[in-house]
Amino acid sequence: MSPAGRPAARNRLMTLTDHNDLTFQTRTRDIKIHGPEGFEGMRKAGRLAAECLDMLIPHVLPGVQTLDLDRLAREFVLDHGALPACLGYKGYGHTVCISRNHVVCHGIPGDWALREGDVVNIDVTVIVDGWHGDTSRMYGVGPVNARARRLVDVTYRGLELGLAAVKPGATFGDIGHAIQTHVESQRCSVVRDFCGHGLGRVFHDEPNVVHFGRPGTGPLLKPGMFFTVEPMVNLGKPQVKVLSDGWTAVTRDKSLSAQCEHSVGVLEDGMVEVFTASPTGQFKPPILAD
Ligand code: MF3
Ligand code: CO
Ligand code: CO
Repeated sequence: MSPAGRPAARNRLMTLTDHNDLTFQTRTRDIKIHGPEGFEGMRKAGRLAAECLDMLIPHVLPGVQTLDLDRLAREFVLDHGALPACLGYKGYGHTVCISRNHVVCHGIPGDWALREGDVVNIDVTVIVDGWHGDTSRMYGVGPVNARARRLVDVTYRGLELGLAAVKPGATFGDIGHAIQTHVESQRCSVVRDFCGHGLGRVFHDEPNVVHFGRPGTGPLLKPGMFFTVEPMVNLGKPQVKVLSDGWTAVTRDKSLSAQCEHSVGVLEDGMVEVFTASPTGQFKPPILAD
């Protein structure tokens, strides 16, 4: 987009409330099957969401205010002619969620600063031509201790193994089982109270994609299905609670929690396409040892 277009794009913020309704698409009980134009749309949306998280990497530093990261993300999304899906979604007031340490998900950016040693998840969803790209990653704030780094590794590996379970004849239960088996083998736990979701023109659609389960259970994976896989993994017990702000979910035992998320589609051959892969190979930003 040309520099001249930037102020106009930002002014659209004034009309963002309820923009999710503008797609005139609603959640239905069946799992939608999308065609080639859906794949094209999701590739663009997923790529922009990934580029937004790439853009943030050098800004995730000790002392940085999380509201500033949110502003950078919002401007990036608007400057690329897209919309921030979370802004105005069910009353949420920001572009990204920033979940630090024992925050499991839906952490709210604010006038609080990152501190050295924090591990934070940043989650962004963009809307491009009506299609939703939803992704999150873990970032280390300066050097990070070994327990936190191990948790992050377990979480990413859980996502990888969950996605590797997407193949012809597999079910959603196979994805959850692959994640849970790995996470629990590493003496960590899978959060039960939040799950992945179908998406496309709708932000949160059928099905619920849980990150635990038994092989062969749940709906069959079919070509044209779009959904997220976004395991939340705790060092301690799986229980969470939501704080009085109505959003911030934390571990009940205050143990560290990590998450990473991709938006994916099932291809004609039954294999998975990751829409939110980092074009620069930075889905897993380097975390420094302390
Ligand atoms: N991006 C989150 C997800 O993975 C949803 C955040 S909803 C918000 O589904 F309103 F909290 F932003
Ligand atoms: Co999601
Ligand atoms: Co997300």
